[in-house]
Amino acid sequence: MAMSSSIDLSGTTYCVLSGASQGIGRAIAVEVAKLLGPKSVILLLARNKDQLAITAALCESDNVSVVYESIDLSKASPRQMHDVIVRSLKGRSVSDFAASIIFHNVGSLGNLSIDTAQMENVPELREYYDLNVFNVIALNTQFLKIFDEIEDRLVIVNITSLCAIKPMSGMAYYCSGKAAREMYFKVLAEEKKHVRVLNYSPGPVETAMIDYVLAEAVNENLREVFTSFKNQGTLLKPEVTAQKCVRVLQAGKFSPAEHVDYFDDE
Ligand SMILES: NC(=O)c1ccc[n+]([C@@H]2O[C@H](COP(=O)([O-])OP(=O)(O)OC[C@H]3O[C@@H](n4cnc5c(N)ncnc54)[C@H](OP(=O)(O)O)[C@@H]3O)[C@@H](O)[C@H]2O)c1
Repeated sequence: MAMSSSIDLSGTTYCVLSGASQGIGRAIAVEVAKLLGPKSVILLLARNKDQLAITAALCESDNVSVVYESIDLSKASPRQMHDVIVRSLKGRSVSDFAASIIFHNVGSLGNLSIDTAQMENVPELREYYDLNVFNVIALNTQFLKIFDEIEDRLVIVNITSLCAIKPMSGMAYYCSGKAAREMYFKVLAEEKKHVRVLNYSPGPVETAMIDYVLAEAVNENLREVFTSFKNQGTLLKPEVTAQKCVRVLQAGKFSPAEHVDYFDDE
């Protein structure tokens, strides 16, 4: 695939998506499933198996078979991540796929009830980084290893945030984690010129994450920002941002690991 050419998922495609049990992840899975050609496979990952089953049912079609596994990505080992992908292939050879795509959508907000100047709980920080940074990298590495043979047909999408590039009071866990995660994908894209890499920032979206901010945040500025999102009806529906993500991908007009925001022009 050339660098800024369109991305075609209408052939036999393999897709893995983390954080697929609700919110933006579920919506992206549904939109992507519509694009995939015959004999495609989607692997959905998150902890909540019942909710994964609902996402799977929404994605199943004549073209697409969906596999889902409950996995705690804050604790999974690289070996477990490797095995879950291999199991989903059900003995099929990676060269059978015209394209393979991974969405790193999993994410959490971290501790919102502590001032940034008071942060010192290193085990808690470490746990946050395990899920949001280190294990994202480890899962991505398994994906690259397993699909090595078709490296020129790989697509990697990191679900990032405005918070990766713009500081937000009261969100030091989240902003620093998103920044580190996005930069990892930027460095990877420098090295892997044949892999298409996109950092997609979904905008403010009506999901459980927003409710969590309002329930947990102590920072006044942060509370105000999110309260006004909610009260002014500016929150996007997950489907709307998922559709934009898919359009950006298909058009393929992004530079390697570019940060593309929902509000950017198409
Ligand atoms: N909502 C927004 O306004 C917004 C804005 C910018 C960026 N984002 C980003 O978009 C992504 C999705 O966010 P969302 O708003 O859809 O959040 P969400 O509704 O809270 O969904 C988070 C997903 O991650 C999964 N997850 C959380 N902890 C996990 C763990 N330990 N192991 C495996 N899976 C885990 C959850 O599934 P289980 O609980 O079933 O494990 C869920 O499917 C995140 O990366 C977020 O940072 C969101």
